[in-house]
Amino acid sequence: MSATDHVAVDAEGAVLRVVMNRPEKKNALTHAMYAGLDAALRRAESDPAVRVVLITGAGGAFTSGNDLGDFMATPPTDLDAPVFRFLDAISSATKPVVAAVNGLAVGIGTTMLLHCDLVYAATSATFTAPFVNLALVPEAASSMLLPSRIGHAKAAEMFLLGSRLDATQAEAAGLVTAVFDDAALAAEAMKRAQTLASRAPGAVRATKALMKRGAEPVADRMCVEAEQFAARLRSPELMEAIQAFMQKRAPDFSKFG
Ligand code: COA
Repeated sequence: MSATDHVAVDAEGAVLRVVMNRPEKKNALTHAMYAGLDAALRRAESDPAVRVVLITGAGGAFTSGNDLGDFMATPPTDLDAPVFRFLDAISSATKPVVAAVNGLAVGIGTTMLLHCDLVYAATSATFTAPFVNLALVPEAASSMLLPSRIGHAKAAEMFLLGSRLDATQAEAAGLVTAVFDDAALAAEAMKRAQTLASRAPGAVRATKALMKRGAEPVADRMCVEAEQFAARLRSPELMEAIQAFMQKRAPDFSKFG
């Protein structure tokens, strides 16, 4: 299998599925794979036919993180390195990103989830961020985002001791949206990605952007929301939603970009 085959991309309707596909190495991520993930995310961003990205892993793993051999052979030392370009793409994606964590999520396999909008996990999934074990430090802004997501106490244990969360713990901690049986995960995650793809795309992107804004005074946030709310009251998407309600039918947002 060539390096480019190690990231498989296919579309199911308006959902672009991106699969880390190197199961014999637990989907450890090489520079070429980061470049493939980056390209898929940038394609999703620019292709109006894509509304949602779904990231998952092949075989029984999500990803075992950086390929340690590749990493040592060509250390990513500048911001143009594929890993940092991928992190830039996933952290700045304006379209929603859904993760289906089908097993091991090590290192960046866990930290990339902090940039996903919905995270579904298999019962067998595990989450670790063992950067200190490798004498490294966290990346992907996870030193800020993980403590704010799951609290300092649990994040410190994951970072400093390399401790592992299982799927139930990850859901309880707030890292994971919902947990499904291993056999059901792929279909359940795709079903939710398709539902998201059927929602009004402008409203979805605007809501994602609002949720990703940094902390600000409540009054300031209410002003920003109010401006957008008012603008959306005049949007064709809203007209379709209201008409569909009046006509007792499902809204069709497929014509909106
Ligand atoms: N980089 C390079 N190769 C990796 C890898 C990684 N991050 N993770 C797994 N592999 C390789 C293994 O070397 C092994 O290769 P081999 O069959 O040629 O010997 C193969 O993938 C299968 O992994 P294995 O260790 O046998 O599976 P396991 O289920 O016993 O353990 C892990 C899985 C992920 C717990 C273990 O491989 C591991 O700790 N890997 C390193 C994880 C890591 O530190 N990532 C970076 C975080 S910043």
